[in-house]
Amino acid sequence: MATRSSEDFVSGDPGEPAVEGAPAAGVVLATRALPEPSLSTLLPEFDVRVLGYGPNEDELAAEIEDVDALITLVSDPVTERVIAKARKLKIVANYAVGVNNIDRAAAAARGIVVTNTPGVLTDATADLTMALLLAIARRVVEGDRMVRAGGFAGWAPDLLVGRELRGKILGIVGPGRIGRAVARRARGFGMTVIAFGRSPRAEDDPEDPPRVSFDELLRRSDVISLHVPLNEETRGMFDRDTLLRMKPGSLLINTARGGLIDEAALVVALESGHLGGAGLDVYENEPAVLPALLDSDRVVLMPHAGSATAETRREMARMVVEDVRRVLSGEKPLRAVPPESSRR
Ligand code: GLV
Repeated sequence: MATRSSEDFVSGDPGEPAVEGAPAAGVVLATRALPEPSLSTLLPEFDVRVLGYGPNEDELAAEIEDVDALITLVSDPVTERVIAKARKLKIVANYAVGVNNIDRAAAAARGIVVTNTPGVLTDATADLTMALLLAIARRVVEGDRMVRAGGFAGWAPDLLVGRELRGKILGIVGPGRIGRAVARRARGFGMTVIAFGRSPRAEDDPEDPPRVSFDELLRRSDVISLHVPLNEETRGMFDRDTLLRMKPGSLLINTARGGLIDEAALVVALESGHLGGAGLDVYENEPAVLPALLDSDRVVLMPHAGSATAETRREMARMVVEDVRRVLSGEKPLRAVPPESSRR
């Protein structure tokens, strides 16, 4: 059996039959290798190609013509132009829950299915949200830097004094799967949780936080955590005006999408002291990060790692492979994202 790996794929190479003498059952293009086992092992009957780098729109368009299934990351731009170049594409399987990198309307217009990996990364992302919240509230990264730099000169009453979570109000923007998982954790720390979102509160779920208006959430929350998808409605939701309406001294946590926040306005709100701090896992122009954020002790920064646990990433790979195989075998995928859905 001749299979390929990320190491030996040469972009543009026509590919060999997966089984000697038998034509490959289709071409699967992944932009990056996924956690082991390799895609070639999981999909032996297909011609699996792995680019091994993050393609831009032109690079993806140049690779897509004879591809039947495309496996993408959140940073891969599956635009209308890329989709227009595909002659055989049946599925774009995003190795992520968010699908804002894919033009779903263009895919739907060509009968191409878009799938994602919902549910399995809920706990991992909620854990990282709490990690950022605790890190910023208790100045963990500042403390780490201080100790490493030899700056720990002994216990002192005013050393790295932070904030307590107990008794504080957490405002969840987007009480979906991840937002509710954060709410559960935050209650364990003694926080009261309120939420703003378009889904009504599930009356039979006592853990589902009560809904309030956006204005009330901004006014009352000591901490706001974002869990909405990025779309035309939510882009720049936390702009200068919104940030100014947040409670003075409050904290902002974002493990959803960078485009929800106007980063330049966030820097101003932090520098003026209006906001107490921010914990960010995602950025407006990833992987670029505003230098002013890099220089600030009031922020804790992570490199878009919400789902980055070994367990979750393995399960995401399994889901992606399962739906690719189903669609290329003529079956319905298990996790199709509707064209107009904006779920994250
Ligand atoms: C990560 O950001 C994801 O959407 O899965």
